[in-house]
Amino acid sequence: MSRLRSAVQKGKLTALENTKVIKSSNKKKPKPTIKEEELSEMVPSSYHIFHDPSEISLFRSRLLHWYDQYKRELPWRTVAMKEPDVNIRTYAVWVSEIMLQQTQVATVIDYYNKWMKRWPSVEKLAAATLEEVNQMWAGLGYYSRGRRLHEGAKKVVSELGGQMPRTTEELLKQLPGVGRYTAGAIGSIALGQVTGAVDGNVIRVLCRVRAIGAYSTSPTVTDALWKIADRIVEQERPGDFNQAMMELGARVCTPKSPLCSQCPIQTNCHAFRKVSIKQEKDSKRLPSNLAANPNTLVPDIENCSATGNCNLCLLEEWDPQLGVQNYPRKPFKKAPRVEQTLTCIVERQRAGEEIEYLLTQRPNKGLLAGMWELPSFILEAGVSENKHKGLLCSMMQKLLGTSLDTDLLQFVGEVVHIFSHIHQTYIVFSCCVSDCSEAEQEQKTSWLTKSALQGAAVSTGVKKIMKLYESTNNVGSKDKKRKLSPLVGKEKRSNKTKRLKESATNGGPKQLCLSEFFSTSKPAAKANGKHS
Ligand code: ADE
Repeated sequence: MSRLRSAVQKGKLTALENTKVIKSSNKKKPKPTIKEEELSEMVPSSYHIFHDPSEISLFRSRLLHWYDQYKRELPWRTVAMKEPDVNIRTYAVWVSEIMLQQTQVATVIDYYNKWMKRWPSVEKLAAATLEEVNQMWAGLGYYSRGRRLHEGAKKVVSELGGQMPRTTEELLKQLPGVGRYTAGAIGSIALGQVTGAVDGNVIRVLCRVRAIGAYSTSPTVTDALWKIADRIVEQERPGDFNQAMMELGARVCTPKSPLCSQCPIQTNCHAFRKVSIKQEKDSKRLPSNLAANPNTLVPDIENCSATGNCNLCLLEEWDPQLGVQNYPRKPFKKAPRVEQTLTCIVERQRAGEEIEYLLTQRPNKGLLAGMWELPSFILEAGVSENKHKGLLCSMMQKLLGTSLDTDLLQFVGEVVHIFSHIHQTYIVFSCCVSDCSEAEQEQKTSWLTKSALQGAAVSTGVKKIMKLYESTNNVGSKDKKRKLSPLVGKEKRSNKTKRLKESATNGGPKQLCLSEFFSTSKPAAKANGKHS
């Protein structure tokens, strides 16, 4: 019986007893609930923890043997193995672990190599500017990670005499952005510290291996997982052991379609055993429908002895469709906030110069801190499109120091971009300005050419918007030009060039831009994507 059901049943009993007493008073019965304090008082049965030293020993050797055969050669692993300087080794693993938080290995490799080439030591990173760091991080998402790395490097240089911390505890204490997992990973991989490291992959592996089905984000489960990880970590090769656990989670014990047949620790896995037992039971029961005869069933001996009173068992019913994917169980995630942002691509071309685009710098705190973006603001519900366009114009007026009419705004299309917690739709407009005075403003602005923009500290959202603009407006894309009707394309393009030239040679209409100039006012296709 599950803990929840048992508690509910206990509650029912209490309720029944209460009915007798309460009958006359007709009071509302309190609902029986299990509080977190009660949960943590319940002792996990040995079923959920590695209690047998010989099993731990087998588990370690099977896992490490598999890792030695199948591990991917990754640049940070090579540094961890080969770099004799402990300071550089720790710095290199620190960089990799920060980049790997929330980002796939395949994406990180390139960023990592470029980063280490540019800033091969903590001193070199400390000497960089935040702008350079943001630029290097552009496209990797979760930009506060890069900023914290930079802050940490400056702290190591200014406060720790350039020496990276030498223990897991010190890493945790001294470095901003380094939590329990990251400290454990750096400590074990770079410094050989015998500490566990529980990240998302390891949570999945351990929950399956020990059939832990209570919510994996609860303090009780988190605590149990760390205890298990610290207990089973291999003493001689803690870094390899931790990376083997991560690797297994990433490549075999995957969230969907796990490859149990290829798993080196299949025989240690309670979830796998449960699935096998249930399958065997079903196969014996179903054909002759002998379920009523208990002698024909495989006995369910492999189970938690404290079921019903255990704080780590499945909270809800076992779902036969899910198999080992019954573990881990997560509470429902809050739906991402839905936001719409009005944004404008402001284009200018000065005589003899390349086309440039206006960018503004975000504040130094919060989402995408210090990054560059197109002039934008979040749409308010219930405000008309015209009013919004008016607001966009006045925002740009402030930035450009020149008046701007809403008629000059051309609709380009929409871009959907998913941040971790925001479902963002950019509603994109464009306008073109001739040379304009640099206004005094609170916000920092910059004019960047298309190629400069690609290398700048801008988010993937901005890059997607520019891509959409190119595809609708032919900017720098020969293929797209060919896709337009040749007549329309040529005519509009030559008009555009002519007007730009006129505008440039005549000194140009001060802030005139070209409402009729853009080749299309049709909404463009939506671009979709994930991450900043
Ligand atoms: N994820 C986090 N750290 C990792 C590592 N060292 N190797 C592979 N994946 C990881």
